[in-house]
Amino acid sequence: MTGLRIVPAGVAEAAVLSALYEAAFAETWAPDQLAQLLAGPGVFALIALDQAGEPAGYALGRVAADEAELLSIALLPDRHRRGEGRRLLDALVERCAAAGAETLFLEVATDNAAALALYRGAGFHEAGRRKGYYKVGTTMVDAIVMKRALAAD
Ligand SMILES: CC(C)(COP(=O)(O)OP(=O)(O)OC[C@H]1O[C@@H](n2cnc3c(N)ncnc32)[C@H](O)[C@@H]1OP(=O)(O)O)[C@@H](O)C(=O)NCCC(=O)NCCS
Repeated sequence: MTGLRIVPAGVAEAAVLSALYEAAFAETWAPDQLAQLLAGPGVFALIALDQAGEPAGYALGRVAADEAELLSIALLPDRHRRGEGRRLLDALVERCAAAGAETLFLEVATDNAAALALYRGAGFHEAGRRKGYYKVGTTMVDAIVMKRALAAD
């Protein structure tokens, strides 16, 4: 059992989210860009805090009427495979359902085996593909669009 605590986050946590993103993806997502996104309609963030209260991961989502989107999710690399990504995903699912969304969409790179397994295990299925959606170095990687229904309360 993990001592992870999942808390809501907002514009004030943009720098924390930026640091987590950079640690997870080895790419930059500038705090001001994140803050702008977080200030947009329907956008929300969840941060996972470890037992010491240190940020260990995040999930970003957006709800628009009856549709929601998982924008990004990541755990720090040294915390993978402890069930924490699934916990964050479940928390995001709950939040989207509570906001009235009926379907949750996401995009995932075809070569991201860990994320694909996480999403399939959480009930997502393939709904389409986007050719050359991600740029990894000089290589273009396709995205799989996945979706799942959200249970209404
Ligand atoms: C994807 C990610 C969030 C998963 O987080 P995690 O905490 O390691 O995942 P969990 O421990 O909750 O795993 C839940 C399930 O996902 C699957 N899974 C997770 N990592 C896996 C891996 N490396 N290989 C195969 N299956 C994996 C398994 O089915 C796992 O259940 P199990 O451990 O009972 O077999 C994490 O790998 C990560 O942060 N990756 C970098 C960022 C990223 O790629 N984000 C997604 C972008 S779309």
